Amino acid sequence: MVRILKIGGSILTDKSRPQSPRQEEIDRIAGEIASASADLVLVHGAGSYGHMPARKFGLPQNFDREGLLQTHQSVKLLNDLVVQALVRQGLFPLPVHPLSSALLRDGRIERMDVTIIKEMVTRGIIPVLHGDVAIDSSKGAGIVSGDQLVSYLARVLKADNVSLGTDVDGVLCGQVCLKTIDRGDLPRMEEFIGGSNGVDVTGGMRGKLMELMDLADQGTPSQIFNASREGLVKRALAGEQVGTLVRRRA
Ligand code: IPE
Repeated sequence: MVRILKIGGSILTDKSRPQSPRQEEIDRIAGEIASASADLVLVHGAGSYGHMPARKFGLPQNFDREGLLQTHQSVKLLNDLVVQALVRQGLFPLPVHPLSSALLRDGRIERMDVTIIKEMVTRGIIPVLHGDVAIDSSKGAGIVSGDQLVSYLARVLKADNVSLGTDVDGVLCGQVCLKTIDRGDLPRMEEFIGGSNGVDVTGGMRGKLMELMDLADQGTPSQIFNASREGLVKRALAGEQVGTLVRRRA
């Protein structure tokens, strides 16, 4: 049994201001994680720590070594805040930086060493990954989103609980939050799944759904829920459906 939880950068940071953590939210979420932390792989978004420097340096379109360095160093700061918050809850997290463990090709993870992650989980450690810059063997520079990491890890680790916490209630069709979504719903959802609030270089809700639809097609459902609502992280980790379920087309 492996659980994968991603917390979006829009929850953990103010996405419209550089390097601005929402410390209270980081602490609250760490507290909710403490209630169900066994067999957990945690992935968090980069928020303004990643999207702003990436955009400044034109990543991933431009291969810019300074941009890779500065963006990675910036997202590591947020990763450290998340790790420290988990430590304060009495948990045993360890940072895992995708830049050092994954290789991309054309923007997709070509390979990644997940043995380390598996070993950590077996030993009661919470690996804490994050959206990151990466080396792309075809284009030079790449960005690996937390969402892509979730879909890759869920497949490789055969996760049985995959939840993505965002700042919206799930997949919204106007005012209505869908209970479930599958690939067949996409055409009528086009106008609703646009971008994201703030600066986002990895595709907002559309990018998220593309990752999760691929995962669902391979047999692993997942849910998108609102992690800013108190208690929902805890309930999602307990296996409850608290947002939109992304599932395979019936
Ligand atoms: C983006 O990661 C990574 C970088 C911009 C370096 P995510 O796409 O997972 O981040 P959020 O959740 O949108 O903030």
